[in-house]
Amino acid sequence: MRIERACFGSERFSTQTVLALIAGEDSFTLIAEEEDDVVGAAMCMFSSESGEGKIASIAVLEEHRGRGIGKALLKSCEESLRSLGLSLFTLEVDVDNEAAVNLYTSNGYLINGVIEGFYSDGRDAYSMSKSAVK
Ligand SMILES: CC(C)(COP(=O)(O)OP(=O)(O)OC[C@H]1O[C@@H](n2cnc3c(N)ncnc32)[C@H](O)[C@@H]1OP(=O)(O)O)[C@@H](O)C(=O)NCCC(=O)NCCS
Repeated sequence: MRIERACFGSERFSTQTVLALIAGEDSFTLIAEEEDDVVGAAMCMFSSESGEGKIASIAVLEEHRGRGIGKALLKSCEESLRSLGLSLFTLEVDVDNEAAVNLYTSNGYLINGVIEGFYSDGRDAYSMSKSAVK
């Protein structure tokens, strides 16, 4: 929740949602640590039925950004989802979030379209995906 609060402000997931993502049978959370301190986190959901794994959130504390931690979290999410046998990685990202859009496109994600009004304040999101096959 410290990472959520620092990185997403009022747009953060609720404590209830984070607890559900940590404890759920169809979701998991990864954390990035530096010197025993949590500096980033990623949350994923998946459906074995559809074969789809969703990157629900990746966040790195501001003072630790730009050093490859976001990319490392994304790669770890993909490895975990791949090991669960999932065939497609998906996500939604704010069209104006340049850092995140670059993170995803530079790691092989394609923009499938724009979801208008995806966020509660009306902002649009890109729908992105990547085949899990290497
Ligand atoms: C998006 C975020 C997770 C990136 O984390 P990070 O640790 O700084 O990212 P990395 O250092 O691993 O960078 C990986 C790639 O992301 C892109 N990127 C990262 N920061 C960027 C910036 N400020 N501007 C443009 N592109 C950027 C680049 O493509 C970069 O690759 P490169 O270094 O080879 O150019 C981080 O900015 C963040 O936590 N933002 C707030 C939360 C958020 O919006 N999350 C995404 C939506 S869920």
